[in-house]
Amino acid sequence: MNCFASGVLILSVAALAASCSRKPDSTALKPTAFGASIVESSGGKQFGQAGTPLPQPVVVQVNDEPGAAVTGALVEFAAAPGVTFDPVSALTDSSGQATTNVSLGGMAGRYQIAASTLDKTHKKVELKIEEIALGYQQTLGRRLNEQYCDRCHNAESTAERVSNYDNLEVKPHPFTEGETLDKLSDADLTAIITYGGPALNKSALMPAWGNTLKKTDVQALIAYIRAVSDPPSRSASAVFAKD
Ligand code: HEC
Repeated sequence: MNCFASGVLILSVAALAASCSRKPDSTALKPTAFGASIVESSGGKQFGQAGTPLPQPVVVQVNDEPGAAVTGALVEFAAAPGVTFDPVSALTDSSGQATTNVSLGGMAGRYQIAASTLDKTHKKVELKIEEIALGYQQTLGRRLNEQYCDRCHNAESTAERVSNYDNLEVKPHPFTEGETLDKLSDADLTAIITYGGPALNKSALMPAWGNTLKKTDVQALIAYIRAVSDPPSRSASAVFAKD
């Protein structure tokens, strides 16, 4: 049974955190090698709905001093209570990597995830990765973004959506781009989303959405834009880290 399933049975977040951190496999795994550094391969800065598994696993890599991958090093994952890992510890594979599936806590905000390994002197080497848990309103904003905004504001095409970004003479910014988005107040964001680019003396290639979206939809989009800002927005929500 994984941590999540046992947690549902116990029905207590505290018990869930305790049962996960006491999982015996972290002590059962015996490293056969030690690295000098631990780096992120993939899976950082994801957005998931609070209390649900992140879409992608988190993958980290342990390297030796010259920077070559180390096989058989022990990696342990830790975070604030309420975050679960499956598995919570692992030995690095033949490419020096360890993979875990992460479920974020039930509170919206930023979660710091620590991945650690031991070096030759048995000193802990730690890597910090940040993930974002979206609340209800922010998740609604994310869906509206995918439906109406992403095709211009996201330069990458997906299987479901062809990006229009390259066709635009004036380039919009991705909503993660905090440097730009955080300079705009909530009132500015409401104005440009409702009335289009000209409301802020910007290009009319940014359409007006006032006839398509309700006020609460615009608020949800703003909540989403603030939540995913990188660096974090001035109005950013809580950061959850292990003590
Ligand atoms: C047809 C393409 C298109 C769509 C769809 C679109 N935008 Fe834009 N948007 C633009 C362009 C182009 C700009 C840049 C205008 C400028 O800098 O003069 C822009 C600018 C903005 C800005 C100002 C920050 C920036 O990126 O420069 C915000 C905020 C914004 N859009 C929000 C939205 C939201 C929210 C939606 C979905 C409801 C949306 N946009 C949909 C084209 C689009």
